[in-house]
Amino acid sequence: MIRVRLASIVLAAAAVGTLLAGCERPPIDNVQVGFRGVGMEQNYNPRLMAAVIEANQPPAPLEPASADGPKASAVYQNVKVLGDLSVGQFTRTMVAMTNWVAPKEGPEAGCLYCHNPANFADDSKYTKIVSRRMVQMTQNINVNWKQHVADTGVTCYTCHRGQPVPANVWFDPAPLKHDVTGMLGDRALQNSPAASVKLASLPYDPFGPYLAGDKPIRVQGDTALPTGNRASTKQTEFTYSLMVHMSDSLGVNCTYCHNSRSWQDWEQSPPQRATAWYGIRMARQLNNEYMTPLTGTFPANRLGPTGDVPKLNCATCHQGAYKPLFGAPMAKDHPELGGGGAALPTAAAPAAPAPAPAATTGLAPATVFFAVGSSALTDEGSKVLVGLASSLKASADAKVAISGFHSAAGSLAQNQELAKQRAFAVRDALKAAGIPEDRLVLEKPMQTEANVSGEDPRSRRVDVAVR
Ligand code: HEC
Ligand code: HEC
Ligand code: HEC
Ligand code: HEC
Repeated sequence: MIRVRLASIVLAAAAVGTLLAGCERPPIDNVQVGFRGVGMEQNYNPRLMAAVIEANQPPAPLEPASADGPKASAVYQNVKVLGDLSVGQFTRTMVAMTNWVAPKEGPEAGCLYCHNPANFADDSKYTKIVSRRMVQMTQNINVNWKQHVADTGVTCYTCHRGQPVPANVWFDPAPLKHDVTGMLGDRALQNSPAASVKLASLPYDPFGPYLAGDKPIRVQGDTALPTGNRASTKQTEFTYSLMVHMSDSLGVNCTYCHNSRSWQDWEQSPPQRATAWYGIRMARQLNNEYMTPLTGTFPANRLGPTGDVPKLNCATCHQGAYKPLFGAPMAKDHPELGGGGAALPTAAAPAAPAPAPAATTGLAPATVFFAVGSSALTDEGSKVLVGLASSLKASADAKVAISGFHSAAGSLAQNQELAKQRAFAVRDALKAAGIPEDRLVLEKPMQTEANVSGEDPRSRRVDVAVR
């Protein structure tokens, strides 16, 4: 009897041990990140955190190089982006890129990962062509997306970590067999546990719709009755997939960005949510304007199941940290990559996010911005319109289309009225500057993409196109 008892006690103890093996040993630190009593807390284990931080230190910066001496463009034959650097600075960038992307020993590593040893000016290796574009992409991130990356910025190392292929990339998924036959209907990419959504049965491709496409992420209604809110359960599940990816990439809980009593309310959300909002737009632009156009450059065996190029998501940079490399400011040591707030030499300046398409008359369109809730022209706005009016006088046939924009936050009726009043203000200013009314066409107010209310000045604008 006693023996049996003992055995079962040992067994029970072993079972408890097994159960606890999945847990972390205390102490766990608990940091309040939002209002008291609403569970806006992050739990983390300082012991494990120290190791993670240790593993996320960037390599030591190289000594700065002198800006003196001839420019790289004068010395080398085929330099298209970094030509304004001195030869010393250029070489330093090449060494840094080698350390960040292809540091391994071997016949195809180091400088030769990108270069033909017989001729460094040769562009025959796809890796060199990709890298040239990557330099521009990195500059674009550091210069144009400060709302997300701040002065911390990124270098090649942020994504690559000493590997030619970053640890986290995504492809469009292959179509499901069942969907092809149609027998099981549209599974909406669900119920196939996938790492991309932490093995939940949520749709496993949150990337295509949101980080390449611009499908609406917002699904919650802001009225008591479902008036006007057409978001479906399916759409909501896709939103949740994206949210799981974002949380997982940053190693945080949902409450890092939300107050869970009201997921949609920006006023109650920590500022990190606005940073994340820009992050979504940034990832989208990088995929569409930098990665996808490289499809033909990559060899076929590097493409995905549907022939698409490898693309990036939040995890490509963050790799489990709330800030990549826990905020180590690497970019400041590389002004040539747009770090440290340095203005880039013109040859290297990246294309800013695409402006409105140029009008057929050759006259550039103009954009006038307004203050929150106001339809009064600012001094800056008036100046823009005076300039536009004088060029309009030179081309008598041109008509002007005026469209007011408003954000998707708040009351639709009020927003449309405001957008209309702003369009009127622009029309009246052009009239006052001598442009006859029959050349001024008012268009319907347009809604910009939903945004952090009042945060993004682009939603408070009037566009003036010349036709
Ligand atoms: C990850 C890819 C990559 C690695 C690794 C790399 N380079 Fe380059 N290299 C480039 C790119 C891209 C250019 C073109 C830059 C431009 O167009 O502004 C270039 C251009 C050059 C040129 C100019 C050649 C000419 O005449 O046009 C030299 C010289 C050069 N690299 C030297 C090196 C050396 C030395 C190393 C190793 C320490 C190295 N590179 C490692 C991508 C790389
Ligand atoms: C924002 C993240 C990010 C940054 C920053 C970045 N890259 Fe990349 N890079 C990628 C992704 C994503 C790919 C596609 C991965 C693949 O090839 O499967 C890639 C691919 C490459 C490749 C092709 C690798 C191969 O073997 O196919 C090279 C070379 C490269 N990058 C060089 C650079 C250099 C040089 C820099 C810095 C000037 C840089 N990258 C900065 C994300 C980044
Ligand atoms: C890193 C910040 C961040 C984290 C972490 C995060 N979210 Fe979000 N969430 C956002 C942003 C930003 C939006 C709005 C996106 C947009 O409008 O483009 C959003 C939108 C939402 C919405 C839609 C709200 C509406 O207006 O309809 C829901 C629901 C949501 N999140 C739930 C979650 C859940 C559940 C989690 C945890 C699994 C989570 N979020 C984690 C940033 C975050
Ligand atoms: C190109 C690299 C890159 C990509 C891609 C990226 N981030 Fe970031 N993110 C950064 C950097 C760098 C910072 C640090 C900025 C700073 O120091 O304030 C940052 C900061 C943040 C922060 C602020 C953290 C804090 O506590 O202040 C949030 C939230 C965030 N990112 C969310 C996201 C989400 C969500 C995505 C994907 C939709 C994303 N990021 C994609 C580079 C990136």
